[in-house]
Amino acid sequence: MSANNHHQRYAHIVGWGKYVPSNILTNDELAKRVDTSDVWIRERTGIRERRIATKETTASMALYAAQDALEVADVSPNEIDLVIVATSTPEYIFPATASIVQDQLGAQSAGAFDLSAACSGFVYGLSVGASMIRAGTYNNVLVIGSETFSRIINWKDRTTCILFGDGAGAVLLRGSDEFGGVLSSVLGSDGSGGELLEVPAGGSRNPASIETVMANLHTVRMNGREVYRFATRVMVDATKQALQKANIPLSELDMLVPHQANARIIDYAAKALNLPPEKVIKNLDRYGNTSAASIPLALVEAIEEKRVNPGDHLVFVGFGGGLSWGACALEWTEPTIKRATTPQRAAQSRLRYQWAHVKSFGHRVLRRVDAGVSHTLDRIEGSKNGDE
Ligand code: UT7
Repeated sequence: MSANNHHQRYAHIVGWGKYVPSNILTNDELAKRVDTSDVWIRERTGIRERRIATKETTASMALYAAQDALEVADVSPNEIDLVIVATSTPEYIFPATASIVQDQLGAQSAGAFDLSAACSGFVYGLSVGASMIRAGTYNNVLVIGSETFSRIINWKDRTTCILFGDGAGAVLLRGSDEFGGVLSSVLGSDGSGGELLEVPAGGSRNPASIETVMANLHTVRMNGREVYRFATRVMVDATKQALQKANIPLSELDMLVPHQANARIIDYAAKALNLPPEKVIKNLDRYGNTSAASIPLALVEAIEEKRVNPGDHLVFVGFGGGLSWGACALEWTEPTIKRATTPQRAAQSRLRYQWAHVKSFGHRVLRRVDAGVSHTLDRIEGSKNGDE
């Protein structure tokens, strides 16, 4: 994508939302489970606590974040053209988590797919969504990052279990002829580093078996030091490339929203880009690394703290498993003062989602009845033909 041609469609972020579980796990509590300490975790990562899902799943958190995004944008679910859920912790291998979210939102006219690019997933999703809008294919695209890493963590491995947390963030992209929104994207991959951060089993190469479960191969494995080295390199390069593609000088960057993996990685990038702390969003002290959810979660918090204003230039930059990385440069256009929801509108939304739920249930029942009746009719037909 390039920002050179102004006679085209632009993809603006017009809605945003987040969800985090209320259950908090502190460093001190972790230190009771594995050989670590609050001081070590804080000094080496910047993390103080993280949220851990109890009843929540990747789809339910994605749904709540998406509902908030639609509320902010004042867009009804049936206006959505596409739902993208970036996640490495989907509900199932298939069906896609995005299809579950589409159904529960009541987004009847939307296509839906999951996007697997680990911690870079949200930036990848934003790039795909924005490109589809700029091509004129779609007008309203929901891009969600949602993760339940707590379910794929080896809670006995102190080198990984201290890092991750659960949560979701969502944005609604909308097409417009007005200049602004997502102006460029840079996506990268180096598959030769795949084994540096992986879940070794559960896919077609090492399907689930008693052996894979016994060997703990369904949980995250990471070479932290190598990923750290890779992260510091690509974050700076990708940010510069995205800005260059969007014709925005580095001096005009107002806000960097980086993937929240380690405060030291973020500080390194901020220093290399000569950005003061107030221009860099950091919220991993409270959430840890929420993978594909971390950038939208950080963005929504920055908006809530009134740190994002129309006219601002932003860069979202992510990196992680794959190895993969990505950055998007944006010009923010939407007023960030959230319209106060009237009780009537809130009730309307509640009713709409309850109705979507009822309709979904009705469709399931009808499908079963239809299958049963069709089967019976086929049998009657078959036995009649046999009689003749
Ligand atoms: O979203 C994608 C990405 N993932 C990342 O971005 C992770 C990138 N990597 C990192 O953030 C860091 O490498 C870590 C936070 C994972 C580790 O920090 P580090 O400064 O690179 O530590 P290290 O791996 O070099 O380990 C230093 C020492 C080791 O002990 P020895 O070998 O020096 O005796 C580790 O065994 O710290 C030890 N250690 C711990 N000690 C207390 C490792 N984990 C822990 C722990 N508590 N939780």
